[in-house]
Amino acid sequence: MTDLLLGRVLSFTADPFTAGPEAARLDEAVVIAEGRIVATGTAEALRRAHPQARVTDYGGRLISAGFIDAHVHYPQTAIIASWGKRLIDWLNTYTFPEEMRFADPAYAATIAARYLDLTRAQGTTSVCSYATIHPASVDALMAAAQARGQRIWTGKTCMDRNAPEGLRDTAQSAHDDSAALLAKWHGVDRLSYVITPRFSPTSTPEQLEALGALWAANPSCLMQTHLSEQTDEIAWVKGLFPQARDYLDTYEQFGLLGRGGLYGHAIHLEPREKDRLREVDASLIHCPTSNTFIGSGLFDMGGLKAAGQRIGLATDTGGGSSFSMLRTMAAAYEVGQLRGRPLHPAELWWLATLGSAQSLHADHLIGNIAPGMEADLVVIDLASTPAIAQASARAETLWEALFPTIMMGDDRAIHAVWIAGQPAG
Ligand code: GUN
Ligand code: ZN
Repeated sequence: MTDLLLGRVLSFTADPFTAGPEAARLDEAVVIAEGRIVATGTAEALRRAHPQARVTDYGGRLISAGFIDAHVHYPQTAIIASWGKRLIDWLNTYTFPEEMRFADPAYAATIAARYLDLTRAQGTTSVCSYATIHPASVDALMAAAQARGQRIWTGKTCMDRNAPEGLRDTAQSAHDDSAALLAKWHGVDRLSYVITPRFSPTSTPEQLEALGALWAANPSCLMQTHLSEQTDEIAWVKGLFPQARDYLDTYEQFGLLGRGGLYGHAIHLEPREKDRLREVDASLIHCPTSNTFIGSGLFDMGGLKAAGQRIGLATDTGGGSSFSMLRTMAAAYEVGQLRGRPLHPAELWWLATLGSAQSLHADHLIGNIAPGMEADLVVIDLASTPAIAQASARAETLWEALFPTIMMGDDRAIHAVWIAGQPAG
């Protein structure tokens, strides 16, 4: 089956942070077959070239690559929007008790399906998620994503200290369980395993070293963790690792700094940390709704992008207060404003699609609409509520038409989702 979709097809030819909004391109139509993008172009030319194609006319709606959420905790789905705590108290009060429930594989399967349903309704087609320490929590999300044909990354969260009984593994079991899950899932269909030490406060040096060795032995895997999210967390890390030069050094010492490393939050960075992250081409993952919700601080998107850092965008569900990448773009805009650098809608959209794909080293596969790429698409209604419709009605440019949806849109703006070339949901 070949599909021809008509609408306003948005793709990127470059990074708008360096090339400006002209980095975006608009076509009238896209052809997809066997799960991949075949061509973009004018409606007339593509109709003529593909006369047998099934035609879906989305009118004036926007057709974009699906959203990619580069840092989430799917096990925190049910505790999203929990009131009143900062990071360490929030972990102990809400997160760890909930993650304990994933000892039950049936509960893990229920939440994995719920999470993928909720995010698909928001136009998110790929995620990179933490699981819990339980191997079955990885199996649950991998199996649910496999059944939906989605490209995802997940890994067993490793913790062998400063976590409650029942949520601790050991250096050896973290290594061995991660290795077994990696062998089971990595590269199967559209699934990838990601080595996942939660953050240095909950891992002993022995565990960090064991996971560093696992990454060295499996360089095709990504590695994800947290870095410099809150100031009291950074002080705690200093106390736990008195020898370390800074927070990043607690990873660097143990082989956990490199290309393919994903560092969530990265707000309060020292100059040395910024230099090293850029030198090794590591990925920084910006989680703006989380950073305001937990009161962490204001990520320096303008400065870090200008310095050439590789940066993705993420909800950080459920420290983040939303499943929506539209809401996440709005929060990134607001954080940018508070730092004196308002992000252009082209920059926001790029971050939620191709930027996140680049942060996951998957931009040859997902995150854009171009021939050969996988056909994960979202179709956006630019007038999904009366408030948005009246604001976008005056627009003279695509960006003016899109910005009210970025700032005020929710799942009502998601008209359709295509996953691996199939209509989904
Ligand atoms: N740091 C360590 N674990 C977590 C987590 O689950 N959420 C957030 N936001 N930060 C963390
Ligand atoms: Zn996180």
